[in-house]
Amino acid sequence: MRFSLQLLVVAFAALLCAVSPTDAKLRRGLAWGVNDNYGPKLAKGLISWYWHWQDGPNPKFNGKLQWVPCFWGPKYQSQWEQRKREMKGNLPQYILGVNEPEIPGQANLSPKQAAKLHMRELEPYARKGVKISSPQMVYKTEWLQQFMKECNKLGCTVDFIAIHWYGTTKDMAKLKRWVKTIHKTFNKPIWITEYGVTAASGPNMNAIKRFHMDATAWLTKVSYVKRAAWLGCFVVNNPPDSYANNKNAFYNDNGSLRDIAHWYMYSSKPVKRSAHSNRALPSSHVARRGLTHKDEDGNDIVDDDDDSEPPEHIIECDEYCQARDKAIADFEAKNGPISEEDDLDDDNDDDDN
Ligand SMILES: *[C@@H]1O[C@H](CO)[C@@H](O)[C@H](O)[C@H]1NC(C)=O
Repeated sequence: MRFSLQLLVVAFAALLCAVSPTDAKLRRGLAWGVNDNYGPKLAKGLISWYWHWQDGPNPKFNGKLQWVPCFWGPKYQSQWEQRKREMKGNLPQYILGVNEPEIPGQANLSPKQAAKLHMRELEPYARKGVKISSPQMVYKTEWLQQFMKECNKLGCTVDFIAIHWYGTTKDMAKLKRWVKTIHKTFNKPIWITEYGVTAASGPNMNAIKRFHMDATAWLTKVSYVKRAAWLGCFVVNNPPDSYANNKNAFYNDNGSLRDIAHWYMYSSKPVKRSAHSNRALPSSHVARRGLTHKDEDGNDIVDDDDDSEPPEHIIECDEYCQARDKAIADFEAKNGPISEEDDLDDDNDDDDN
């Protein structure tokens, strides 16, 4: 009896060791939101997980990507009931909390309401060992701080912080300072479950690609950012709303992949972009449209088109950006300047989340 228990413990430890390295690499993901049939093209390379807001898993991924369910909020309670049925006997590793709680058109909840819901809908899963995110906040640190207080009072579990971020292609430094502020404020691992460039900032395609890779590479390397999902799972002329730039798209209108998707799938360093990058090409080539390359599987890749006009009124720092700037300034006034140093995690050996 004793012997077999020991064996079991050893086997279990071996299993843990076998699982951890794979889990540690789970970083880049998809905020899924387009024709399910387009899925298999993207479920490759460095992409390892996805979420789908209130909706269910995409069967076309054939289990290649890890599915992360989300409790969107009361507006989609019936979809959540369906997710709960799916999770019976098939517990996920992670669940995401409510979607953009401080935005009127989104989950739109007070911290108190959200904490009660978290306790009712998510805490039972925390007790079964599932790791649970905070509500997926956009800009309002006070909202999340209040939520954490309410949650503590009720005794609920928040394993990691989930946030969304949109800005301009010039905002790399702002993104870093924001993520650092969130980390210092909440002291938990972070997932960025949506990020991208705003439509109103009106950048050209090359600027978006460059930002996409710089931001993704940085988020992938920072030790406490565990996962990130660029909001690009839509076809270029049919973005999910008018806030995010349509050029963030991973798909052409016919469902073929855009260059930006190939970078996301295959490039880990901005200095060594994919073979499809036109940064390495002479400038005469950069302007050429319809230039094709081959990806690892031998598929033809066409440079992303850039034929849409910039908006009439360019907005560089919108209300969310201003609120984040203020939160960073407030944090620095209280705690001293945010360090320029990055807490990098080159060997990816932390499998916390
Ligand atoms: C799909 O659309 C892209 C971009 O417009 C184009 O380059 C490509 O040739 C199209 N592919 C097919 C199979 O029509």
